[in-house]
Amino acid sequence: MCGIVGYIGKRQAAPIILEGLSRLEYRGYDSAGIAVFDGDKINISKAAGRLKILEEMTHNGETLKGFVGIGHTRWATHGVPSTINAHPHYNREETIAVVHNGIIENYIALRKMLKEKGYEMVSDTDTEVVAHLIDYYYKGNPLEAITKVLHRVEGSYALGVIFSEHPDQLFAARKDSPLIVGQNEEGCFIASDVPAILKYTRQVTYVDNQEIVRLRGDHMHFYTVDEEEIKKESVTIEWDSKAAEKGGYEHFMLKEMYEQPKGVADTLLPRIKDGEVVIDELNMTDEELLSVKKIYIVACGSAYHVGVTGKYVLENLARISVEVDLASEFRYRNPVLEEGAMVIVVSQSGETADTLAALRESQKRGFKVLGIVNVVGSSIAREADSVLYTWAGPEIAVATTKAYSTQLIALYLLALKFARIRKTVEDKVFAGLLEDLKKLPDQIELLLSNKNHIQKFANRYIGAKDIFFIGRGIDYAISLEGSLKLKEISYIHSEAYAAGELKHGTISLIEEGTLVAAVATQPELFAKTISNMVEVKARGAFVLAVTNEGNMEIEKAADYVIYIPETNPCFANSLAIIPLQLFGYYVAVGKGCDVDKPRNLAKSVTVE
Ligand code: M6R
Repeated sequence: MCGIVGYIGKRQAAPIILEGLSRLEYRGYDSAGIAVFDGDKINISKAAGRLKILEEMTHNGETLKGFVGIGHTRWATHGVPSTINAHPHYNREETIAVVHNGIIENYIALRKMLKEKGYEMVSDTDTEVVAHLIDYYYKGNPLEAITKVLHRVEGSYALGVIFSEHPDQLFAARKDSPLIVGQNEEGCFIASDVPAILKYTRQVTYVDNQEIVRLRGDHMHFYTVDEEEIKKESVTIEWDSKAAEKGGYEHFMLKEMYEQPKGVADTLLPRIKDGEVVIDELNMTDEELLSVKKIYIVACGSAYHVGVTGKYVLENLARISVEVDLASEFRYRNPVLEEGAMVIVVSQSGETADTLAALRESQKRGFKVLGIVNVVGSSIAREADSVLYTWAGPEIAVATTKAYSTQLIALYLLALKFARIRKTVEDKVFAGLLEDLKKLPDQIELLLSNKNHIQKFANRYIGAKDIFFIGRGIDYAISLEGSLKLKEISYIHSEAYAAGELKHGTISLIEEGTLVAAVATQPELFAKTISNMVEVKARGAFVLAVTNEGNMEIEKAADYVIYIPETNPCFANSLAIIPLQLFGYYVAVGKGCDVDKPRNLAKSVTVE
């Protein structure tokens, strides 16, 4: 989604801002812009398309001289991707410039009001309204004008604002859209995400909802929307900045697939101690866990697919009832949440707007929320009642791989913890399950080493029109993710179907040569899935099967088989997903797609 970077200090602002924006490119955007005060006026340069165009236009920022500035990468919501709609936006005298992430929900009413007062809009954006509204309230005191605006606007925002009359100050404000500020000996920074300023400082402060920041070159002041000054603590970011670089891989996605064994081990091993699952972060006693009557898992996209897997695993191992919801549905469906239930939200970024809203909705109704989150210090991590971090490290590619794999581990651990407390698995079985979990990193490594075969197979499908994924139970959850991976980066239409549902409609789409990927990792369902494979094969499909080592029976119904090493069927997703990730990746590479930054998509979906 949109990215913000701002700088004020002793160095030239533009190169720092452009460098910061390049670190946010992975989030997805369609245009970029920058505003810098040159000692006399604010100059804005913007361009539709890649940041590279803006870098060339400004000679990497050389032509925009000045020590204070703001920059933005825009992912269009209101108004098409274009230079005019790109941020920053000016007020009418060009003395104020604004960048904005989020959505101003009452912008139509504000636009009307401003037009009546004689303001003219040049863009179709909701953001431009903010620039004019600040102008309307500005009587020489920027802080006062911004606070008045924050009382008028509805929706979500992270804002960066500069005033030509106050070139020694840079302002920022936030509500429901991430924003951080940082400082080093040469200046102060604002950014919508940590990687943007990691090169310059590791000392950052998270701006909270409805807070305003006034940055001068050497210090930062924080205010409430009522202009009361507040004190805030900074935190030190521990990430290795190398982790956010490609390190010789052709794409971040490939690199991140290869980081899965480590991410899985880092998420798993510290939580297994003396043959038990220890999750201190839950902040719940065994009695409290025992009193949990039901679990709701709420998430979006791949994190939702993790939830679907989690339902099967938790219900199977811990015999506890689980409901899984898409966060965008949950927040508006007025759900009936059963007393004694626990809500779990799953999110890599910790900033997904719908997931955050679902968390707040649950808390409003008096339920405690556990967040399974990858980005430390993100909004969900800060607002959840307890946080179980996945230790995947920074994930840059839009298509998630390593975060997904670590989220699965977090849910397996919870399932085992509940199973232990609820005494639903025997000691011997429990010990076996832990052993199987510990083998996963090596088994994933082994599957990754098979990439050349999968690449060859994938090359046959770069021209495909439709590809279907089928499976039952956990295999259906794996199919959902396999299908999403393929379609989001290769733009090939793909659907995942519960194998038993095929004959209720979708089978009519099968034509001669259509690829159907059948996932069959659940021994008690093999025979059923094989029947569905035979059915599609009889209608001309080419059947790729992903199944367990030793399941030779499947070769009768499949045209191509990928075997996964032996594990407990509850954990099969962690292995079966690897060849499907590789398949999606190589189809997209074969088609020449922009794998790490697929069209129309953003890494972190911070608007509805
Ligand atoms: O950051 P989150 O885990 O909350 O993101 C959820 C989805 O937006 C995300 O999983 C999305 O579906 C990915 N593009 C899938 O690869």
